[in-house]
Amino acid sequence: MPITITDTRHLEGSLCVTAPAKVNLFLHVVGKRTDGYHLLETLVGFCDFGDEIEITKRSKTDPQMRPPTAHFSVSGPYAGALDGLPPENNLVLKATQMLGQAADQDITSLHIHLKKALPIAAGIGGGSADAAATLLGLNHWWGLDWPLSRLLPLAEHLGADVPMCLKSALSYVTGIGEDVYPLENALSLPIVLVNPNIPLSTPQVFKARQGGFTDSLISQLGQAGPFGAMMPETMTMLCEALSKWHNDLEPPACDLEPAIGIILSKLSAQPGCQIARMSGSGATCFGLFESMAQASQAVHALRAEQPNWWVHAGALS
Ligand code: C5P
Repeated sequence: MPITITDTRHLEGSLCVTAPAKVNLFLHVVGKRTDGYHLLETLVGFCDFGDEIEITKRSKTDPQMRPPTAHFSVSGPYAGALDGLPPENNLVLKATQMLGQAADQDITSLHIHLKKALPIAAGIGGGSADAAATLLGLNHWWGLDWPLSRLLPLAEHLGADVPMCLKSALSYVTGIGEDVYPLENALSLPIVLVNPNIPLSTPQVFKARQGGFTDSLISQLGQAGPFGAMMPETMTMLCEALSKWHNDLEPPACDLEPAIGIILSKLSAQPGCQIARMSGSGATCFGLFESMAQASQAVHALRAEQPNWWVHAGALS
């Protein structure tokens, strides 16, 4: 599901931007750069749920403020997880500052509100999706009309996952995350996400990874990756293909957080679950389901069994 922008400035004075959760359907670590970043080959999709960014005009402005900053607030089920962290470290403010500077706009007149619905440090791109949504939202707010190609270098600076979140389309992604190849996709996949409500540090998971690198699919199949430009047409064909690949970060993440193994076995035991796997560096795991009804049933069952877990169903595309 792509990022959507709802402009109600003429009615309510605000601009709302969705920041969809990202899911890595598989993730291969195929090498490492000299700066420590890992080279990846991954298939990513985006959910029809996630965080939200709201941009409004602030009544009191102070263009002299140094460093110039926007007013920032957070609400939602996971707002508490950001308590005590300096706001200037939040990717939403970093994105605001970066685009404001690049486009020579006054950011001190803005109030940016983040509705944090996704668990943090969860392997589903929360902070990166928030940053991407902020870039697209402000691009619209200021009437810049910059094409994605002009926003992408800023996205790359903000984090390895931000470029893919900016495109927010089912894509094959390579490099450290900057080479994004969207696929023609007719599928809307019923998905259940489960997180144990335990944050997992991405650098720590990469560091805990053992062994060599997975063989590059690009070198076997070409730059466009496993499916060329087209996604498989049915869920069965997709799951058959996915079963040949894996998430290289799943074993180290499971060692660091044993709850992941429990989630995976409970997810795969749900009726209709076609494949269960970890997303990104974890700890969130996903299950793809034959139907939305079965996905909803799985949510009820898992929530009843594990009330402390975050469990959410939706569609991935
Ligand atoms: O770019 P970002 O700040 O999101 O990355 C967080 C950390 O994750 C990096 O500092 C690095 O340790 C690890 N990482 C990596 N290879 C990638 C992406 C992230 O090693 N392709």
